[in-house]
This record gives sequence, C-alpha cells and structure tokens, in this order.
Amino acid sequence: MFSIQKYNGTKEENYQLVLKQLGSLLEGEKNVIANLANASALLNQFLTDVNWVGFYLKDGEELVLGPFQGLPACVRIPIGKGVCGTAAKNKTSLIVADVNKFPGHIACDARSQSELVVPLLKDGEVIGVLDIDSPVQNRFDEIDQKYLEQFTEMITAHLSFENKKRLF
Ligand code: SME
Repeated sequence: MFSIQKYNGTKEENYQLVLKQLGSLLEGEKNVIANLANASALLNQFLTDVNWVGFYLKDGEELVLGPFQGLPACVRIPIGKGVCGTAAKNKTSLIVADVNKFPGHIACDARSQSELVVPLLKDGEVIGVLDIDSPVQNRFDEIDQKYLEQFTEMITAHLSFENKKRLF
C-alpha cells in the first residue's frame, strides 16, 4: 500500500523523497502502463499548483496520449508541434514560463499557464515525454527540471523494451 508522506523538507529533499518513492513503486514491475500510471499519480500528489501531469508516448511521427492525471487531453501531437512535440524533436527539456507566449502551444486545459516537458530518452532516442501543466505562470525552475529528468531516467532505465524502442 502506498503511504502518504509529508513533503516538509527543502525542495531538493522533497524531490529526493519522491525519487525514492518512485523506486519503490517501480520495483518488481515491468508493465509500462502500470508504471507510468503510478508515476503520474505519484507526481500529482506531490507537486503543488499543477492541473495536469502525465505522459505522451512516441508513435511514429506523433506523440499519443499515455497515462496521466488531469482533465481529458489532446490525444495526438505531431513531433515538432506544441511544447511536447518541440521537446520531443529537440530531445531536451523545455520550461515555458507563459504558455500564451509560446508559438504553437496546444491548449488542452484552458487553466494551463506554464508548462514543463521532459523527454523520455532511451539510447539517445525519444520514446515519449513527461508533460506537466500549471495554472500558475512561471511555476517551474531548474530544480524541477533537474529532478524530473532524474525521475524520467529512472523510469526509462527500469522499463524493458521488448518491442524495440517503443513503449507500447
Ligand atoms: N500543452 C501541450 C499539449 C498537451 S496538454 O498540455 C496536456 C503542448 O503544447 O504540447
């Protein structure tokens, strides 16, 4: 059973606790859907001021909606489009302080004001992205990016890729 923890340390200490919790959730389970579903639920109960957190998975030249927490969202995003598709194309994390100023931002939830996208990389190839939306402008900083990159690295290191470099 998952036990609720109080995140009352520094921002970095809290993230370190979340990484440990992720390790416990992943342990002994290789199913991609189960692991990504629990990973999004873990982040959703940890992060403050977020209205959407979840995964998009690479499907050919598009990203397709994966496990998430939040309102129903856009199902397919072409690689290179929107914040998610741009992060996937560039293979780098992307912090957008004000989504209204990001050309081509795809609005799935009208409340979203800022966004952080972290690509999931396997052997240098993008296999999906972690997308987090906030109703507050400028919600994400380099500490969020650093630890959420570790978070996604733990996930990709743990998953098995029987189906080559696809997550599903
Ligand atoms: N805003 C994203 C689309 C996904 S939703 O935020 C869940 C984008 O521009 O890629």
